Amino acid sequence: MDVINVGLIGAGTVGSGVIRVLNENRGIIEERLGARIEIKRIADIDLERKRPVEIPRALFTTNAWEVIEDRSIPIVIELIGGTTVAKDLILGAMRNKKHVVTANKALLALHGREIFEAASEEGVEIGFEASVAGGIPIIRVIREGYVANRILSIYGIINGTSNYILSKMSEDGREFNEVLNQAQDEGYAEADPSLDIDGVDAAHKLSILIMLSFGTLIDFGKIHVEGIRNITPLDISFADEFGYKIKLLAIAKGESGGIEARVHPTLVEKGTPLADVSGAFNAIYIIGDAVGPNMLYGMGAGMMPTASAVVSDIVQIARNIIAHESSYSSLPKSFQQRNSTLSRLVPMSKIATKYYLRFQVEDRPGVLGKIAGSLGKNNISIESVIQKGRHIGGEVPVVIMTHEAKERDLMSALEEINKFPVIKGNSVFIRIEDLS
Ligand code: HSE
Repeated sequence: MDVINVGLIGAGTVGSGVIRVLNENRGIIEERLGARIEIKRIADIDLERKRPVEIPRALFTTNAWEVIEDRSIPIVIELIGGTTVAKDLILGAMRNKKHVVTANKALLALHGREIFEAASEEGVEIGFEASVAGGIPIIRVIREGYVANRILSIYGIINGTSNYILSKMSEDGREFNEVLNQAQDEGYAEADPSLDIDGVDAAHKLSILIMLSFGTLIDFGKIHVEGIRNITPLDISFADEFGYKIKLLAIAKGESGGIEARVHPTLVEKGTPLADVSGAFNAIYIIGDAVGPNMLYGMGAGMMPTASAVVSDIVQIARNIIAHESSYSSLPKSFQQRNSTLSRLVPMSKIATKYYLRFQVEDRPGVLGKIAGSLGKNNISIESVIQKGRHIGGEVPVVIMTHEAKERDLMSALEEINKFPVIKGNSVFIRIEDLS
C-alpha cells in the first residue's frame, strides 16, 4: 500500500484532533484512499503541553522549517493560525513544492491573493476546508456541488461564539456582558473575544465564501462589519414580538453593480431555517439559480469537527498525488484562474433592506407623528409600530418596522430624527433579511 507522509505544524487542539482521527479512523480512510496517511513530523513550540492524544516524542520538533524541508513530506498542514509566521511557513512550504492544508481563515482573507498566486506558481495545491464553518464541508459543496449554478446569495451563521451568546441572551433575557462572561467561563468564548463578537472572524470566512462562489477576490477591509456588542435583551424581546430572532449574519449577494458583502446583526423571521440555528452551531443558507435554496448545518468549531475538515483536504490531495493529477486549477477559487483584480463591493449606502428601528422618546402627543414624518420625507414606508407602556412626562421605547428602504435614505432620516429634542439616547437600527 502507498504511504503518503504529512507534516503537521501546530499540535494544539485541532492538530491533536487530526492525529486522533487519522489514528482512530485509519482503517476506513485507507479503504477510501487506497493508501496510508502517515504523520511523519510534528512541529510545535510547546513539547510539554498535555494533549488529548499520545504522540511519540520522536516525531516532535520545535523547528517548523524541519517539517518544511523534509523531502519525504509532500503535504504540510498549518494549524498555528495568525497571519505572520503562518504566512512565511506556508509560502516556504510551497517554495519547497509541498501541498498545504490550512484552517487559517484570517490569513486567506487578508493575504489570499499572495498565497494562491504562490500555489499557482509552484504548481501545488492548497486545501482550506477547515477555514470556514469547521466540520461543515461548505468549500467542497460550493466548488463541486454547485458547479452548475450561478450563486445568487449566501447567508451564514458562521461564528459559533456570537451565535451562542445571542441564543443565551434570547433564552434567558440577560445582558450581553453577563452572557459573554459566562461563555468565557464555559469555554465558548476566548479570553479576548473581539474577533468573534465584533464580526471579524465571520467576515474572514465570508471573504473566502465570496471567492469560491463568485470567483473573485475582494478587499477584505471594505467588507461592512458590525458585531453584537450593542444588542440588548430589549431589542431581542421586541424582535420576538414582531416574529423575528436576531442573528449575526454574514451576507453576500451577487448584484449587477458588484458584490454585496456585509456582516451585521440581522432580524431573521422565526420559522425560517436560519432562525432555528441555536447555540454554538453554524449554518450556511445558500441560493443557487438552478438548485434554489439549500442549508448546511453543523459544528463550526471544535477539535474533531475541524479535524474532520482538515483530513478531508489531506485525503483529497493524497488522491491527486496517487493519480499523478492536480485539481489545482479548480481548487483555490473554484473557477479557472482569472486575472486577480479585486471585485467591486456595493457600498452600504446603496443596499436596500427592511429595518427594525427603536427610538427612546419622550411620552407625549405628536412624537410618533414627527418620527413618521421624517421617515416618509425620506421615502421610508412604515410596516408596523409598537409603543409599549405609558409614562407621561417620562420616556418610552417606540419600535418601527419598515418596508424595504435604501440604506442611504435611512441614514438621512436617522440623522434628522436623532436631532429632535424628544429623542433620548441612541436610536437603534437593525437590518432585516427576508429568507422565507
Ligand atoms: N471562533 C470561531 C467561532 C471558530 O466562534 O465560530 C473558529 O473559526
